[in-house]
Amino acid sequence: MNEHCYSRLPGLLLPWYRGGHRDLPWRQTKEPYHIWLSEIMLQQTRVEAVKGYYARFLEALPTVADLAACDDDALHKLWEGLGYYSRVRNLKKAAQVILDRHGGVFPQNYDQVLALPGIGEYTAGAICSIAFDLPTPAVDGNVLRLCSRLTDDPTPIDLPAAKKAATAALAEVYPAQAGDFTQALMELGATLCGPNRPPECGCCPCQKICLGHIRGTAPSLPVKSPKKSRRQEDKTVFILSCEGRYALEKRPDAGLLAGLWQFPNIDGRLDAPQALEAAESFGLRPREILRESDKKHIFTHIQWNMKGFYLEVSQPEGIFQWFTEEQINGQAALPTAFRQFWEERYHV
Ligand code: ADE
Repeated sequence: MNEHCYSRLPGLLLPWYRGGHRDLPWRQTKEPYHIWLSEIMLQQTRVEAVKGYYARFLEALPTVADLAACDDDALHKLWEGLGYYSRVRNLKKAAQVILDRHGGVFPQNYDQVLALPGIGEYTAGAICSIAFDLPTPAVDGNVLRLCSRLTDDPTPIDLPAAKKAATAALAEVYPAQAGDFTQALMELGATLCGPNRPPECGCCPCQKICLGHIRGTAPSLPVKSPKKSRRQEDKTVFILSCEGRYALEKRPDAGLLAGLWQFPNIDGRLDAPQALEAAESFGLRPREILRESDKKHIFTHIQWNMKGFYLEVSQPEGIFQWFTEEQINGQAALPTAFRQFWEERYHV
């Protein structure tokens, strides 16, 4: 019965997709560099948020060679606010591999694409099907949800078995128009069969073959395993200003937000007198606390609960680098966890 669901998918999905779909910038091209960039940006990030970043990135770095040669600070700045910065570091590493090992030409073979840094099965499948029309499924959360409903499958979609089964079943039925089929699956999984709401089966091209619809189970699918809770970390963040300059420091080269800029901060939650003492221990002469502000930032496995102190100091000394507003806005990649304090600097 499951095979039957899948075998009719291309015949139903392709005409539906061609009859109208979201007009997204990366759907106007079969250039593998562009498809690759869009797929990396779209991991864990909403389509609307990606559009502007995608256009700016390609304007700044129009070729794989430009990407391979871009310095890390400029690259981080192009990614600032998108999060998961290892994605952009891997993009550059992969661009260097494409230059060194593939003569600057994007490889057209699934195993070679999969071997590039930062490219897993999903991304390799998406690039090869969309750019080269190879029959390689790209199974992300949207497609998994769709498949679990199509086959009325209660396997939790976070288990590798669910992805394996969906990938194998889709690979069997891929049509020659592989790129359109991949995009059609993504489109249905993001729209009518989208996340966190009941499916809109009334307008779905697959309603006749969808076991979840036929049996009435679709609204309660997919099943997910219970989530693990995030580790909570308290931080005290210092927004230190002196004569129009602000103190920043670079994060270590490895670990969370590696190599990006940050406001000086320490673990734990300090009160105002302790914050003044800490500023002195940085080699500064604090004048006045201008404002205090609580912020949180959620990463995949960690939540930072931050207390920010806006402090005016009398000399731009100590162990930090002092940046102007223009430099912080135009040059230094300051991740969202810290940039939220920056956005509030005029509220002091
Ligand atoms: N999400 C992941 N890849 C996508 C794509 N190519 N188009 C729309 N949404 C996506």
